[in-house]
Amino acid sequence: MSEWGPGNPHPLSKMSTELVWEGKYDEYGNRRQVDTAGCAMPMQRIETIDQPRSEAAARGKQDLLAFEKETTRVDDFRNRLIWGDNKLVMASLLAEFKGKIDLIYIDPPFDVGADFTMDVPIGDENESVGKDQSTLEMVAYRDMWGKGTDSYLHMMFERLALMRQLLSDQGSIFIHVGSEVASCVRMCADDCFGRDNFRNEIVLPGRATKNLQQQFESIARLQIRHDILLWYSNRSSTRFCPFWVVKHDAGNPEGHWHHFWSTADRPTMRYELFGVTPQSGQWVWREERALKAVDNHKRFLSEGGGRTLAQYWRDTGCCLEFIRPSPEDGKPQYWREPAETRLADTMWSGVPIYSADNDYPTEKNEKFLTEVLRLASDEGQLVADFFCGSGTTGTVAERLGRRWIMADLGRFAIHTSRKRLIELQRKLHEEGKAYRAFDVYNLGRYERQWWQKDRLKGADEEHRRVVLEFFKAEVLTNTPSPLIHGRKSGAYCHVDGIDSIFSRAEAKAVAEAVAQAGGKQCYVLAWEFEMDLRLTAAALEKELGVKLMLIQIPREIMEKNRKNPPPFLEMAVLEAEPVYRKKGKETSVDIKIANFVPSLAEVPSSELQALKERAIKSGTDFIDFWAVDFEWEPGKPFNHHWQDYRTRKDRSLKTVSDARYAYQKTGKHTACVKVIDTFGCDTSITVGVAI
Ligand SMILES: C[S@@+](CC[C@H](N)C(=O)[O-])C[C@H]1O[C@@H](n2cnc3c(N)ncnc32)[C@H](O)[C@@H]1O
Repeated sequence: MSEWGPGNPHPLSKMSTELVWEGKYDEYGNRRQVDTAGCAMPMQRIETIDQPRSEAAARGKQDLLAFEKETTRVDDFRNRLIWGDNKLVMASLLAEFKGKIDLIYIDPPFDVGADFTMDVPIGDENESVGKDQSTLEMVAYRDMWGKGTDSYLHMMFERLALMRQLLSDQGSIFIHVGSEVASCVRMCADDCFGRDNFRNEIVLPGRATKNLQQQFESIARLQIRHDILLWYSNRSSTRFCPFWVVKHDAGNPEGHWHHFWSTADRPTMRYELFGVTPQSGQWVWREERALKAVDNHKRFLSEGGGRTLAQYWRDTGCCLEFIRPSPEDGKPQYWREPAETRLADTMWSGVPIYSADNDYPTEKNEKFLTEVLRLASDEGQLVADFFCGSGTTGTVAERLGRRWIMADLGRFAIHTSRKRLIELQRKLHEEGKAYRAFDVYNLGRYERQWWQKDRLKGADEEHRRVVLEFFKAEVLTNTPSPLIHGRKSGAYCHVDGIDSIFSRAEAKAVAEAVAQAGGKQCYVLAWEFEMDLRLTAAALEKELGVKLMLIQIPREIMEKNRKNPPPFLEMAVLEAEPVYRKKGKETSVDIKIANFVPSLAEVPSSELQALKERAIKSGTDFIDFWAVDFEWEPGKPFNHHWQDYRTRKDRSLKTVSDARYAYQKTGKHTACVKVIDTFGCDTSITVGVAI
């Protein structure tokens, strides 16, 4: 091997100060780039959600017209909730959104010892069941930590590089990390955004995580009680709205510091964070004090001379008390100006970081996200979160009038976000406030094709082999029919193509091939099934004496470091029927859920037996959300005309819709029912309606 020297410099000698991880450079010393073009794929819009509008439409033309007249629309932008790996999602968004996103907040998983098992509620009472680690969150988690910090950093760098391309010139990104990975992520982000564009490292005091506590129990180390928020901008100039913090309760040396916004363009905002006293949550003042507040307010209005409240404080040094009407009942509420004020700094101790009561273990507090969004974005701007979890960023963006895009690869995360944003749409509409519609997208078969190309490097045969191996079935080389690919405990196996939907015609062909080969049973393993296939399978069993067992291929097999097979379970059973209501000459329609048996794909094996019995006896206990599209058309996104769901507070669920849908035309129609169970898995069927 040649000596290193001037003519043959050591590769490390060419490096600037930088963090190097395995995978950053290729074997020739070239920096690896993200294959943006290779990852970009068409996204499929699978659902459209404008709950208040659809509800009005369901009641008939008149109501819809009235709705359109009365409802203020901010603009026609439709927000997006995207299900898929964010690397593919971001690469796919570039064509439309390159340089267009104004603020990105991300909160990637960072807990090395993360345990994804969580409790999800079932039924009407306060019962819950364990949800296993088998969701795609685990794919990301293992991909990320497969080779320890190296794979984590490589994953982060690729994502940050894509985010930078999506950010607008004045845009900002906030990266929420645990203190144990903060130093590495900061260097990785320096690398991506440039050290000059680093703005702040913000300390977020919070709770100590259980895992860390356990992990460090035997180590001489302090418990960690804070997270880190890294703020970078895309260029050296960025939007920045400085804010103040105030200390309430001067008598108490600890006090309560609250963030305070003082933008001259939005005068009402300055009160929002002071709406209540922190201890009691109430405004409780004596009358004379309240009256003084009124005087003070008047004084500020007459002497303020267009200054913001903060400028007025600074100039006059005076301490004021103010009055404002309560947003709830219009009665006066009073706000005492705090004893101390200072410009906000990087210690956000007055802001709750984690949400107290929620369905999603890592959910962040809306107040915290409000601070982030106000700090570096304006109304109407586009905000994104590509690790959205329960959808906090989108919820806050919607409240603050920002447009949003969110993505997550967890099915449960998409379900939680969808539900939360529908509820917010309803609420904003009830309050007469403007809201935007949103659509749900996925990458569908394109994601699988990418997996086949990138990971399996093979054709359909390789895909079938991997599926059968995970299913613990024998791969048949000498098969009686090209439609039969394997065998397991006396039954044949058919594996559907990676990019097709298993159809009724295919079901018939497979059943005939099995019958001809003398078989009685066949497992049909497919990524997607055509709607209502269970009915076809039952008919084929009668006709040909062949039982087709419809098994969904779990997406978990796409996991990079996966060795153990994930559960392969039969599709859920869902049956529904129309309910006709007559009033005079008019007939309105609703849908009744007649039967539901969940697939229990995500239940830990320890709980499986007990839950199987319960699922057969009272399957509707496992329904978390269901929706009806009364005018369903094949190939079109599902339109949420009506839906009902359980919340933490209200566990009840209707099993008959109360939309009273008025069809405009007589004749035959098709409704589609979509049920999402407690584990976030969805099942849909069509229901024929005759008017
Ligand atoms: C810490 S949680 C986010 C919590 C969120 N801030 C909230 O308030 O609910 C991280 C999320 O990142 C998602 N995730 C991890 N890797 C991902 C990837 N490669 N693509 C998309 N989402 C991913 C996980 O499914 C998880 O929901």
